[in-house]
Amino acid sequence: MSSAADAVTDTLRELHSRFAELRDGELADYIPQLALADPDAFGLALISMDGHRYSAGAADVPFTLQSVSKPFVYALALSLLGLDEVCRWVGAEPSGEAYNAISLERGTGRPANAMVNAGAIVTTALIPGTADATGFDRILECLSRFAGRRLDVDEAVYASEVATGDRNRALAYLIRSTGLLPVDPVAAVETYFRQCAVQVTALDLAAMAATLANGGVNPLTGGVVIDEPVAAQVLAVMATCGMYEVSGDWLLRVGLPAKSGVSGGLIAAGPARFGLATYSPLLGPTGTSVRGRRALGALSERLGLHLMHNPALAGSTVTLVTTADDLPSAPTEEQERALRERVAVVAAQGALDFTAAERVLHALDEPRPEETESVVLDLRQVTGVDTVARTMLRSGLARLAEGGRRTAVVDPAGHLAVGPGGDPAAPRRFESRDEAVERAARDLGTL
Ligand code: DON
Repeated sequence: MSSAADAVTDTLRELHSRFAELRDGELADYIPQLALADPDAFGLALISMDGHRYSAGAADVPFTLQSVSKPFVYALALSLLGLDEVCRWVGAEPSGEAYNAISLERGTGRPANAMVNAGAIVTTALIPGTADATGFDRILECLSRFAGRRLDVDEAVYASEVATGDRNRALAYLIRSTGLLPVDPVAAVETYFRQCAVQVTALDLAAMAATLANGGVNPLTGGVVIDEPVAAQVLAVMATCGMYEVSGDWLLRVGLPAKSGVSGGLIAAGPARFGLATYSPLLGPTGTSVRGRRALGALSERLGLHLMHNPALAGSTVTLVTTADDLPSAPTEEQERALRERVAVVAAQGALDFTAAERVLHALDEPRPEETESVVLDLRQVTGVDTVARTMLRSGLARLAEGGRRTAVVDPAGHLAVGPGGDPAAPRRFESRDEAVERAARDLGTL
């Protein structure tokens, strides 16, 4: 039976059939085991912030993470050590060079960023083992939490890269010569090869990307994998460096933080929207899946995901600014006029962030505050207030109070509630608008 949400799957299916025709590109063969992949395999997956899963084609076919592992291990390093410490070891500038370039920052010797091999090897080496777990155990555990299921290593691919990975070993020795590798080069590279050989599907990758897009909370399991600031840091480095020497062109045309891998995986994250992933092992000259690149580009355009787009204004924040309607009626005409002139009501709805709070503050000033004596802010239809918006609204109301106005909030959910200890300057809080307005009217002696 078909459902309304199948319309999303239809979009993926349509892109799948459009780009399945494309046979350009080559299988990676510098890791011999990767050359055994099926060149026709092609899967697409999308996971929403509510954990809705959509896919088309070979979204369940296993392949190895390769470089798509890098942002997630970077996330773990940032979580364990913090941004400043990680930046001492590895930079955050686009290198403009290929993923396997033998190049380090002039002066410091740091790898340019954590998305190129040099930076990824250092990042992996930064993950300390514990009494119970090796560095790699912690990496695998973290990758699994991003995917929302227990992942494992493809031992054949691992062995294949160990057998042919001299360029990465050379890089590790070069980095150690600058003093910026905290462990033995051979050990560092072997852990890095193991993380690259972790097996996933396109649906797993979509869950991993969706977790980054969702501020570090896996939308399938609800588990907090990393803190929100770390998710933002990882997405920032993906946006500027995730596609290596074509990162600028990708941000220009597709407009999403992304990461590619030489086995054919490609992820993109639409912050607060979707996690997207494709699998197709035929690669273009920069080591990115040809079909994946085209399909994610088309999907971003179709769904309007480009980060720099001017978003359509999210539903209006302020639903009512009044000094007249919607106030309880007063016994006499004169009292009613006084009530209208002296009490202002502003109502807001939805999730309040900085942008929305600015609108509310502006609306609080709208009903000629110099003439109104009492202001009621109705937050009953508000679904959430972030810390920035809470501070702004509290200080906006405090300013009105300083200016001599009486302030009240209709806030049964306690969005503006002050913590224990209270705040003597906090506005009075009411459960209903009628109650708040009536109280304001009584205080002003108009009822
Ligand atoms: O280090 C390597 O060469 C591989 N294990 C991973 C490289 C990779 O996926 C580059 N991305 N497109």
